[in-house]
This record gives sequence, C-alpha cells and structure tokens, in this order.
Amino acid sequence: NQYSSEIESFSSTNPAEIEQFRIRFLGSKGIVKELFDAFREVSNEEKKTLGKVLNEFKQLAEAKYKAVFEHSNSLNTNSKPVNKLDLSLPGTGIDIGSRHPLALVRREIVEIFSKLGFTVSEGPEIEDDWHIFSALNFPEEHPARDMQDTFFIKKDAENGDIALRTHTSSVQVRLMEQGKPPFRAIMPGRVYRNEAISARAHCFFHQIEGLYVDEKVSFADLKQTLFYFVQELYGTGTKVRFRPSYFPFTEPSAEMDIECSICKGDGCQMCKGSGWVEILGCGMVDPNVLENCGIDSKKYSGFAFGMGIERIANLKYEIKDLRLFSENDVRFLKQYTSNL
Ligand code: PHE
Repeated sequence: NQYSSEIESFSSTNPAEIEQFRIRFLGSKGIVKELFDAFREVSNEEKKTLGKVLNEFKQLAEAKYKAVFEHSNSLNTNSKPVNKLDLSLPGTGIDIGSRHPLALVRREIVEIFSKLGFTVSEGPEIEDDWHIFSALNFPEEHPARDMQDTFFIKKDAENGDIALRTHTSSVQVRLMEQGKPPFRAIMPGRVYRNEAISARAHCFFHQIEGLYVDEKVSFADLKQTLFYFVQELYGTGTKVRFRPSYFPFTEPSAEMDIECSICKGDGCQMCKGSGWVEILGCGMVDPNVLENCGIDSKKYSGFAFGMGIERIANLKYEIKDLRLFSENDVRFLKQYTSNL
C-alpha cells in the first residue's frame, strides 16, 4: 500500500531517476521480485487473495515505468535539435550555377539580330551530304569533303554520305527548302571538324550563321547589318574591314575583321600584332545555292554570314585557350555572369 502510493505519485523526466525507479521496483533484486519470493511461503488459502493483489501491484509498477519512460524519451528527442541549433550563426551559402560563357555570348548575338528582325532556326547535327555540301555548291573534289575535315558516320555513294555537320549552313539549306522568301534567320549550333585539339582548335565548336534572302538584297545590306552587329557587341566606334575571300556558296565572298578589342589596334598575341582579328565569313548567296533550294535566283538575292562563337567570346573575355570552354572547371565558368 505504501509502495502503491509511491508508484502512483512517481513522476520524472530525468532518465537517471527513471532508471532508479525501474531498479527499485522491477529490477532482479527489486521490490516486486522480493514480494513474489515471499508469496511462495504463504498458505494456499492466502495465495488466492494475495496473488490477485500482487499481480495488480506488478502491473501498476510496469505501467508507470512505461509511461514515464516514453514521456521522457519523447521530450528528449524533441528537445535535442532545439538545444543544438545556434540561430545566431551565419547560414551556409548555396552555390548556384551560372550560364556558360558560350551560352552568354550566343544569347547576346541572338538578341542583337532579333532587333533587326532575324529569327532563330535550328537543324540536326547529323546531316546528309546534300545539306552540308552538295546543295551549297561544294565541288565534288572540294577539300572540306575530305576525311581530314569531316567526321563521316556512313559512306554511301548511292544515297549520299552521312556526317557530323561541319557548319550550320546546312540549316540555311533546310530553311530555304522548306519555305518561301523572304528569309531572315540566324542559325546557332554545334559543329564538328576533324582537327587536333589545341589551344586554338577543337574537334567541335559553336557557330552562328545568318541568312537574309529577299528581292533586291545587296552587298550594302550585308555590310550595314554586320557593321551594326559589331557596334552592338563590341561597342560603338569599333572599326571593321572587309577582305575579299572565297566560299563555294557565296559570290562575292568576304571575311570581316574587327579592330582587336584587346589591344585596341596596337598589336597583341590575339591579333598576332596586326591590330585586326578576323571574326566572320560572309558573302552574297551564290545563285546556284538558291536554285538548289528551289528559289528563283532571277527574282531573289540574299546574303549569308557565319561566325564561331568561341572566337567572339575569346575576344570579348580575353580567353586564350579554347579548351577551357569544354573542361567544365567551375573556377573558370563562374567568372562569367550577365543578365542575359
Ligand atoms: N559556313 C562558313 C564556315 O563554316 C561560314 C560562312 C557562312 C561563310 C556564310 C560565308 C557565308 O566557315
């Protein structure tokens, strides 16, 4: 009876006290064990009534222990993190990614041309001979078709070879085949050439080509469009010059240089001392190409241009090694930010 009231009034959240309670009543030398031992000594008559009382006493002790133990446990697990969390400490920073410098430059170029009404056109990286070479007026024996430059996937004399595209001019062909003039679009995308990897060359790079076909498009339109583009990208006052050149798909053809933006024309490693850097190839679309794509070359004329995004980015960010673009070193990548 005395023990019963002690058990009933017991309450604690302290694990050590609770363990004490268990040992005192339920332990192998505890009170419950002691009473059961004594129970064996009493007469059979008394056992009937005492047995019931003893069992109730044992259950009371066990139930109390269980309740107190569980309550204390739940308190302790809940309170642990609260005790450990120091809200005055500064938080751990979350590293967020940044756009790849090539993506930044691509977006900037797309933005500039979109102001002039150019839309974006895309096409497959695995192409057939027609779209990479034949439709673009490449002669049968042209060196660009050679194994040296092109990654061939399938050689097929009857239906035409299948290869990784060497330029996005293939998208110009697809665009012209599928629609009617006027065309005013740029074609960003990855292209592949079989070259040894070095600081200045890679087996893949990124291009943006452009095409403008309509009635009465002239070389003056070409010059003014590209001049505007350079002023927007490298700043007003950037000088440009055109040099005659050759491409199978344009006639006449030119290459455009800009005044080296790194040394401002004084001569550096990037422009190899000349003060000028070539940034793109361009020209008036060859009438043969228009006809190959089902366009009346008597009625329509057009210009096209193509540039490597890596080259544009090198000049903009003064990056001297092309390989940095594809190594995914975050120390390099996270230097470039922009709101584009
Ligand atoms: N397709 C050419 C290249 O990859 C670039 C170019 C495009 C030149 C359009 C002239 C006109 O080198």
